[in-house]
Amino acid sequence: MNLSGNTVLITGGSSGIGYALAEAFLAANSQVIVCARDADRLLDARARHPSLHTWVCDVSDEESRRNMFDWVADSFPGLNILVNNAGIQRDIDFTHGIDDFQSGENEIRTNLEAAIVLCGLFIPVLAKNRQAAIVNVSSGLGFVPSARMPVYSASKAGLHAYSMAIRKQLSSTGIQVFEIVPPAVDTELNPLGRAKRGRFKAGLSAATFVESVMKKLEGDVLEIGYGATEDFMRASRAELDRHFERMNP
Ligand SMILES: NC(=O)c1ccc[n+]([C@@H]2O[C@H](COP(=O)([O-])OP(=O)(O)OC[C@H]3O[C@@H](n4cnc5c(N)ncnc54)[C@H](OP(=O)(O)O)[C@@H]3O)[C@@H](O)[C@H]2O)c1
Repeated sequence: MNLSGNTVLITGGSSGIGYALAEAFLAANSQVIVCARDADRLLDARARHPSLHTWVCDVSDEESRRNMFDWVADSFPGLNILVNNAGIQRDIDFTHGIDDFQSGENEIRTNLEAAIVLCGLFIPVLAKNRQAAIVNVSSGLGFVPSARMPVYSASKAGLHAYSMAIRKQLSSTGIQVFEIVPPAVDTELNPLGRAKRGRFKAGLSAATFVESVMKKLEGDVLEIGYGATEDFMRASRAELDRHFERMNP
């Protein structure tokens, strides 16, 4: 991937990994559009980077997704990179049934369905432009699931499978499909779960992680891991089972 001269849409670009990706693409002289739900955080991001384009969108909501698609397709017909990064994570306990799952946001809709629908909507736009790419942000937990976060893990395993499948399906279109597989990164993801675990710190900043990601994007590495997730991505089934037992004592 050539990092400069692109027009990039990053979902969930107001904080964490998405914001660090936005800063990195801006620094490489690409045009960047970010979306998220919280308008104030988008304003803060634009105050720090006046050239950033922002749009309020809840990617889990069909009408909101469609409105963003119409605006981007109309205003940025040269869009050549879609980054499906927006994500949420919840600890969900199924030992007492369905209540915990139903009482909060739906990770399948935000982490998996939204990425699938946005790919479907944007592929005809991307296909018209040179050096087109889709970049899906999955997770190490899509390879080695967390018992505390079963739905999140399932949503990310689904996004991994989807990324592999459309990479093959789109191979004749010129659209490259990348998958970023982050390990634990210090961001605002799952604040309740992280607080329960004593304000868990991964010791890896979004900026440091994204610095490594950008080098791999530039080198056309299609599945991009970091640290532990490099091992997960290449592990045998027996090794995955050992990682699973270690991570879920
Ligand atoms: N941090 C980690 O340890 C880690 C590890 C593996 C994978 N990941 C993945 O990395 C991606 C980025 O997460 P992060 O760690 O950077 O978390 P983050 O700091 O919480 O950022 C998430 C971003 O997504 C946006 N977002 C959430 N739900 C949205 C929705 N329905 N519609 C539009 N935007 C939405 C948030 O803004 P609003 O709340 O304003 O909408 C925010 O901009 C996620 O897909 C996550 O699963 C993270």
